[in-house]
Amino acid sequence: MIETSLVVRTASPIGTISPRLYGHFAEHLGRCCYDGLWVGTGDIDLPRYGGFRKDVVDALKAMPVPLLRWPGGCYADHYHWRDGIGAPHERARRLGMSCGLQVEDDNSLGTHEFIALCRLLGAEPYLAGNVGSGSPQELCDWLEYCNTAVHTSLQRERAANGSPEPFGVRLWGVGNENWGCGGSYDAETYAREYRRYATMLRHVDPKAEMVACGHDDAWNEQFMDTNRRHMPLMDHFSIHRYWINGGKELDFDDEHYYGLLAEADATEDFVRRTADMIRAALGNATHKVGIALDEWGVWHPEARSWGPDGAELHREPITYEQAGTLRDALAAGVAFEGFHRQCGVLSMANLAQIVNVLHAPVMTEGAAMWVTPTYYAFQLHVPHIGAQALPVEVLHGASVPGSANAVSGTASVQAGETAVTLINRHLSQPAAVALQVAGSRQVIEAKILTATSPRDCNSAQEPDRVTLAALSVGEDGQGRWRVELPPHAMATIRLM
Ligand code: AHR
Repeated sequence: MIETSLVVRTASPIGTISPRLYGHFAEHLGRCCYDGLWVGTGDIDLPRYGGFRKDVVDALKAMPVPLLRWPGGCYADHYHWRDGIGAPHERARRLGMSCGLQVEDDNSLGTHEFIALCRLLGAEPYLAGNVGSGSPQELCDWLEYCNTAVHTSLQRERAANGSPEPFGVRLWGVGNENWGCGGSYDAETYAREYRRYATMLRHVDPKAEMVACGHDDAWNEQFMDTNRRHMPLMDHFSIHRYWINGGKELDFDDEHYYGLLAEADATEDFVRRTADMIRAALGNATHKVGIALDEWGVWHPEARSWGPDGAELHREPITYEQAGTLRDALAAGVAFEGFHRQCGVLSMANLAQIVNVLHAPVMTEGAAMWVTPTYYAFQLHVPHIGAQALPVEVLHGASVPGSANAVSGTASVQAGETAVTLINRHLSQPAAVALQVAGSRQVIEAKILTATSPRDCNSAQEPDRVTLAALSVGEDGQGRWRVELPPHAMATIRLM
């Protein structure tokens, strides 16, 4: 049994945990958008909201989904928004392309449908624009179509398509991974291209928040060097981080278990380094540029065409679908700790992806729908959304391979309530945790996510194998709360 003691530093708030840090990402890739979210308005025996699966939307609403990025990913740099408006039966059928897949795309899920989905979910929309095969004019037109109240032809067209009121989409991605699938640009060329797009977009809607495409440290450095004098043209700088070194999705060994959690942990360093570069580029300017970690999550070798180390473990054909285990949920929890610590510089984060694909919280198979342990990781963090993040210090305890604390935590305060989420990363040892939260007198609720094995997951056959349970919280008579966490577990305690 690990004995550990943690203290929440209630007097030193870090900043606000924006709802945008709990964002999601829906790409036209595999069965994420088509089949997962959207099943169409035709003759199908599934309860629906318009063409969206009711069971999926209801589950997502309860997660919740404060922000949703669409339509890609790599898909975005092939996407022509005009294909997805107007009478559905007249819409163009295009080659739907992302990540090497080619499918027939009937464009039945277009801009109006996406906005309708966001409204159903209560999500803020974030549109990713096409730089790779598009033009500044095409993206300006999409922005005008979505947001203008001036009686232009595009405004009238939007009204004729059912939306006289502007959609008011604030977040606009200027391309996606333009160092790779989005056009194989070098950083300097993209930085100049970005300037051109952002200048023109800003004229169309000065309130639009523009997201520039980042990559690794070398690209980011070069981008900042090139655009140092043009930083006000950028509101967010996008970086992606997939955790890819965790071995097999189910059959992983201990080293891979800890390796994946360490990778999730290291996401924070990447955010920190990127923030330093942005800070240096901004100099004394008052303008703010946030970091948009607009794709993050676990990407197992079964669901990708490359690696590890030349070994191809992927299923044939590649569907970008993978088993989502308790380990993946713990990795998400580890990342949330970093998101909270970095909430002053991280302006959004989007899990990749929302349904069926990669680190999905919701899965479907025919008429069946179930949620993955990662879904519950999100639910455990709901009390932190919009709250003030508080530092959590580990006073003493054990560590795990990779030297992270075996038990770590994140905390926040909102409307007089303090929420603390704890993770016991240890594979085999339970932990007795003493927790100090000044001023707390009462437990409102405590919930835990764990399972017999970190390899456990849910499925159509066993949808409730891994789920949330009540956790009992005691007191030690010295002003500290006491909880016992089983190995590989995550829990949230709400206190007043
Ligand atoms: O999420 C899958 C893919 O990963 C996205 O299309 C791309 O942006 C990234 O490489």
